[in-house]
Amino acid sequence: MGFQRNSFMITVALSFIFRFATACSNGQCRLLDECSSDGDCASGLYCFSCPEGFSGTRCVRSIITDQFKLLNNSLPFNKYAFLTTHNAYAIDNEPSHTGVPRFTFTNQEDSVTQQLNNGVRALMLDTYDFRGDVWLCHSFGGQCHDYTAFEPAIDTLKEIESFLSANPSEIVTLILEDYVQAPKGLTTVFTNARLMKYWFPLENMPKSGQDWPLVSDIVAKNQRLIVFTSIKSKEQSEGIAYQWNYMVENQYGDGGMHAGSCPNRAESSPLDDKSKSLVFVNYFESIPVKQPTCEHNSGDLINMLRTCYGAAGNRWSNFVAVDYYKRSEGGGAFQAVDTLNGKLLCGCDDIHACVAGSTSAACTS
Ligand SMILES: *[C@@H]1O[C@H](CO)[C@@H](O)[C@H](O)[C@H]1NC(C)=O
Repeated sequence: MGFQRNSFMITVALSFIFRFATACSNGQCRLLDECSSDGDCASGLYCFSCPEGFSGTRCVRSIITDQFKLLNNSLPFNKYAFLTTHNAYAIDNEPSHTGVPRFTFTNQEDSVTQQLNNGVRALMLDTYDFRGDVWLCHSFGGQCHDYTAFEPAIDTLKEIESFLSANPSEIVTLILEDYVQAPKGLTTVFTNARLMKYWFPLENMPKSGQDWPLVSDIVAKNQRLIVFTSIKSKEQSEGIAYQWNYMVENQYGDGGMHAGSCPNRAESSPLDDKSKSLVFVNYFESIPVKQPTCEHNSGDLINMLRTCYGAAGNRWSNFVAVDYYKRSEGGGAFQAVDTLNGKLLCGCDDIHACVAGSTSAACTS
């Protein structure tokens, strides 16, 4: 009896020791290792479940590779790729600012500050006239409503201002789906958010396919906020760039997710129009659903970027816009951007292969 109980205890003890000796923990788990909490994963990773991609919970990426820090920033702006969040403001758990419970969908899970800190460098924002101000909102019937409004634009713009002031070498691009009709409505809210001091001037944007200014020059001049609007007349009235004068863009939503085809969205010229120096690729569902997003943001996304490369006349995209940007099967949208920067900067499949003396096998050129 006594012996049996002792041997049982020893077996239990050994199995615990064995378990902890083999499983990782305490910040030592690497990409796709099993984990039970974020703290198990090495830095730059978090503990996530994607039943479409793997069993259990595993460490997946949560942060971009900063191409300017890994290499340098001496090339034109259009030679780099940037992670972009679709409807960056439509965030889970954003409290109601109207007093009415929100009844609409979300596209992201992190605050804008967290998105920027994790390496998002372009934000898609929907701007509306609402309650005598500019708000970020989903629309219903073309209008912002109490139950679809997320927050006053100035709140988000102030987060962007804080990030730009704390990170003096980083550039943020805003893509506005703009419904603001109030005269100088956008100019007023950007001014009030103290963002005009970072404004990248319209006259420095190439209009017929030339290279953009060097990132190092943009940083030196502190013109680190690049803003595009979807309203053409605002170039004239407010000096805000009309998006499709400067970039080509594929179809957004479900229409942009058919494998093997990369059509332009209606407002954009065909993707192979090289009089536009920037290429923008959307890859997200018309109605966001969290569960399958980890799969969309992984291999499917990279395949679409290759398809769009061909459609754009052999140009890799500069912006990749996704929903729930941290959901993936491992590398996700972060790896997709690393691949784009590798292609753009040294013709390799991963930016890490561009580092002098790299032994990375990811270079096929
Ligand atoms: C910066 O990086 C690019 C891309 O890897 C490289 O071609 C260029 O020579 C580098 N420039 C400097 C000044 O190091």
